[in-house]
Amino acid sequence: MSRFLSGLYSELEPYTPGEQPKDKKYIKLNTNESPFSPSPKVLEAISHEVINDLNLYPDPEVTHLRTAIAKHFGVDKQNIFVGNGSDDVIAFSVMAFCGRGGSLACPDISYGFYPVYAKLFGVNLTEVPLRGDFTVNVDDYLPFDCPIIIANPNAPTGLMLSVNEVEKLINQNPDRLIIMDEAYMDFGKASAVELTKKYDNLLVIQTFSKSRSLAGLRVGFAVGNEKIINDLETMRFSFNPYNINSLTIKAAAAAIADANYYDTCIDTVINNRERTKTDLEKLGFRVLNSKSNFIFASHPNYSAKSLYEELKNRGILVRYFSKERIKDFIRITVGSKEQMQAVITNIEDILKG
Ligand SMILES: Cc1ncc(COP(=O)(O)O)c(C=O)c1O
Repeated sequence: MSRFLSGLYSELEPYTPGEQPKDKKYIKLNTNESPFSPSPKVLEAISHEVINDLNLYPDPEVTHLRTAIAKHFGVDKQNIFVGNGSDDVIAFSVMAFCGRGGSLACPDISYGFYPVYAKLFGVNLTEVPLRGDFTVNVDDYLPFDCPIIIANPNAPTGLMLSVNEVEKLINQNPDRLIIMDEAYMDFGKASAVELTKKYDNLLVIQTFSKSRSLAGLRVGFAVGNEKIINDLETMRFSFNPYNINSLTIKAAAAAIADANYYDTCIDTVINNRERTKTDLEKLGFRVLNSKSNFIFASHPNYSAKSLYEELKNRGILVRYFSKERIKDFIRITVGSKEQMQAVITNIEDILKG
């Protein structure tokens, strides 16, 4: 830390992204990326014309992309906010709806960026314990007089609330903003986006990083009531109105329009997930009922940390969290059929000793 850093930030604990080691080529199943390339339409969209225009600033209204996302969900452009990854959208949301000195509630085991943003923006965070079976119970979110953010499906458990449960949460909290982080929802197929048409206290956040194979492009978005979206736009225009570049606008719009391509990718991931779950269960693992593109599993006789290390030695990268309640689990991103077969074969071998 330099002697110039503001005292406000001296105790920040930055987010730790999944490791990206360069020492050898890994089967990389640690950051929930897609094993598939983006739609061919994405490459077509990044034409010479867009590249020639890079001397100009991008459209700060992000009209082309917002319109494409709105069309996909059957809402208006005014209901869509776009960010540089959904992390950006979450950050703007915490800034806008909690505010310095405000509060936020979220599950105690969830996406690691929520506590980081709370600290960065001076927000008091209440972490609500997951139930013993790692589920979120919406009745546990009654006593808070502040916005609530829930990853659904949750990470790293992969467990999902139904649309009915989300609606109950919204109804129980008519004067609080409910933020549903649906980064993995395309693999769960129970999005609350439709509810944004009915309720003005719901904001749904999704990303192009997982199901749309565009983690490297950095695009996320929120769907919600026009007034909420306008608040987010006020924040964005007060901070960085050019957070979405011209290439991203074209590429992401082409991606969201190619639903056929991505539906096939999503279904393949779901099939691979279910097959891997069954294979792991046959090897004695406890596997949570994931509705995302990752699997959260623990073995009664083999330490999760050792399993993570042993797999890494063998060139397979998965994610291990040392946090007390989940330290017996590893999280494995669902990759291609071949990658998942390699995981199973290696785990089988490791367990044999
Ligand atoms: C629950 C959850 N939300 C949001 C994100 C952020 O995704 P991105 O910023 O790539 O859109 C992630 C990334 O892993 C995540 O797990």
